Amino acid sequence: MKVEMTILVENTSSGMALMGEWGFSALLTVDGYPLLFDTGHREALFVNSHQLRVPLNSIQEIVLSHGHYDHTGALPTLLDKIGPRPVTAHPGLFVKRYSQGAGGQQLEVGVPFSEATAIAAGAEFRYTAAPKEIRPGIFVTGAIPRQTAFEDVGGRFWVETEQGLIEDSLEDDMGLVVDHPQGLIVMSGCAHAGIVNTLNYAREITGKTHIQAYIGGAHLVNASPQRLEATISYLGRNLPDRIMIGHCTGFYAAARLYNELGQNVVKIDAGSHFNFI
Ligand SMILES: [Fe+2]
Ligand SMILES: [Fe+2]
Repeated sequence: MKVEMTILVENTSSGMALMGEWGFSALLTVDGYPLLFDTGHREALFVNSHQLRVPLNSIQEIVLSHGHYDHTGALPTLLDKIGPRPVTAHPGLFVKRYSQGAGGQQLEVGVPFSEATAIAAGAEFRYTAAPKEIRPGIFVTGAIPRQTAFEDVGGRFWVETEQGLIEDSLEDDMGLVVDHPQGLIVMSGCAHAGIVNTLNYAREITGKTHIQAYIGGAHLVNASPQRLEATISYLGRNLPDRIMIGHCTGFYAAARLYNELGQNVVKIDAGSHFNFI
């Protein structure tokens, strides 16, 4: 199984004329089948794919990790350009979501368009809350059970309900897992379910134990020292060949992971390209 990955949107960029944008998007090509995991927020997907000569038209389907603007915002524009495509996501994708801004205020951070707008642009939604094999050897996790005591959603988030705003458990957060012969490749947008819960569930779904790579945000930016210690301890005992982190991982958490786990930890940027053979 030949897997290639190009990071199209990330907070930082790694090359001339590439754009950094708060968000995440990665093109995953599995045995020649291109699939987009998240879209980023605005124009970085289009600027960077052009600069990197990645033909967006070739994308066969799209998976959305969760209903935050920085992982979904570019979807309607993308579909306008490339035409209708299947879009796999959790059924709670379009719930109205908020997080706490720097001044303590509540900011709207949900998907910045309606389901009707996305459908009009060509989204063929395939909602799932359960694990699903979307292509042979490619799984989405659906909702990830929260089993560790030390992981939380990574910040203050709220969701709109009929009773008003309540704490958002980011139930819709899901990962994508490639069952590669050299070990699992696990992707997450923000890992609001927790990186350890995400990796454990990928193992449970596939029945495989070795993780070849974790790719995505790890949302450790607000992690307590206890959470960081427990996460490092778990990763040290179950060391993935590569822990490829960026986005909401946070500089100090990433530095700490690198310090403890060494060369296995890789910082990703827009423009990063990896092969798994
Ligand atoms: Fe994010
Ligand atoms: Fe998020």
